[in-house]
Amino acid sequence: MLDSRPTVYIETYGCQMNVSDSELMLGKLTASGYRPVDSPDGADVILLNTCAIRDHAEQRVIGRLGELKRNMKADSVMGVTGCMAQRLGPLLLQKARHVSLVVGPDGYRALPALVDGARRGERAIATTFDLEEHFDKVEAWIPVQRGCDYRCTYCIVPTTRGSERSRRLADVVREVEQVASEGMTEVVLLGQTVNSYHDGTDGFAALLRAVGAVSGIKRLRFTSPHPNDFSPAVIAAMAEVDAVCEHVHLPMQSGSNSVLKRMLRRYTREGYLECVERLRAAIPGLALTTDVIVGFPGETDADFAETLDVVRAVGFDDAYTFKFSPRDGTPATRMPVEMTVPDAVATERLARLIDTVRRGSRERNMTLLGARREVLVEKGARRGDLLQARTRDFKTVLMPGDDSMIGRYFTVELTGTTGSTFTGAVCHNRERAPLPMAG
Ligand code: SAH
Ligand code: SF4
Ligand code: F3S
Repeated sequence: MLDSRPTVYIETYGCQMNVSDSELMLGKLTASGYRPVDSPDGADVILLNTCAIRDHAEQRVIGRLGELKRNMKADSVMGVTGCMAQRLGPLLLQKARHVSLVVGPDGYRALPALVDGARRGERAIATTFDLEEHFDKVEAWIPVQRGCDYRCTYCIVPTTRGSERSRRLADVVREVEQVASEGMTEVVLLGQTVNSYHDGTDGFAALLRAVGAVSGIKRLRFTSPHPNDFSPAVIAAMAEVDAVCEHVHLPMQSGSNSVLKRMLRRYTREGYLECVERLRAAIPGLALTTDVIVGFPGETDADFAETLDVVRAVGFDDAYTFKFSPRDGTPATRMPVEMTVPDAVATERLARLIDTVRRGSRERNMTLLGARREVLVEKGARRGDLLQARTRDFKTVLMPGDDSMIGRYFTVELTGTTGSTFTGAVCHNRERAPLPMAG
């Protein structure tokens, strides 16, 4: 039978919050009679869910908008959603005539009506923040908080996503129960400063305990926490809740106190290191990853050397590294021009930083060869007939096997490493409990 439903294609950029929002939008549109497709070719509705975090992210979207024009039929609707939509608003409608919808990150609930309007020829913008957030989505990446109340001077997120709002604990738990009943065993709680979660009654520690107590949940992760929001109660909950994994992504941004101050990160290098110590003392075997920005206005060679020092001192398992990208309207853009770090200098620092991170993580990973780890198989690997699996401490392991193993847990021996990812072999130990374990 011919399916006459109008089709919708969504392309997603940016962070996990956006991936999660895209699924929400798809859910809304499907419920209102749209059919999801996985190619933009001839789709009735094409949506780009965008990111504004760095200029590069926006340039990619602008390029892509031009390309996608060729995939449009005469009556296709093109929409831009997400953080870039929020940031640029009407400018997008002016600059890209083939775009008829501009919807910010909080606009997903009104999306079906907006899309229907656009298909009748309207052009529309929806970029007001929804202060009474109701999340109504079901999957293993679970937004528990939207927006951000920090004001890091380089960051566009408070502008694009508004102030911090936490979802009610009971609602989160209900969603986790739902996800668990569908057979998912791992959840990742999402928020810009997720450990500042507070729903008016309960804070993040209570949330970890409640989610960790849901039957069937074996692995609990969260991202991204802010170093200042790791209260003793939160760390105790992490240590005591079995499901909480031994990995924390702890954005550092810089190892220099003067840079941290101008970034308005609200901690010092010493404070950051102390946070690392408290986490490591409470959670044996903890893996740490981080975010670092180089070339922030006024960053001197000495400041950068301090960043490299801290990177070496902490021994991160991995790091996402960025060159500072000025975002219109953020305080960092109003710092004196003399403070601008020349691009060539920033590029060179970035290369040295990446090299330092890689050396450190390679060294750590080499020591893990021969060790045994429990892995959860996530999907087929891109190459060959390998599967991609993950340890509790967030190491990627490629291992032989077939699709029937996806979603299940195995004990593997780490047999090789590229320095960043591992290869592993399933342990068949007849004397112990039979493996593989049920997922
Ligand atoms: N809420 C998270 C970060 C969200 S953005 C937190 O506070 O940790 C993800 C990362 O992008 C940041 O940690 C930062 O390292 C980087 N980033 C954000 N704005 C940037 C900018 N203007 N230029 C370069 N990197 C930036
Ligand atoms: Fe941006 Fe800072 Fe908020 Fe993170 S904590 S989203 S870097 S303002
Ligand atoms: Fe995420 Fe990018 Fe927005 S990182 S919050 S999609 S600006």
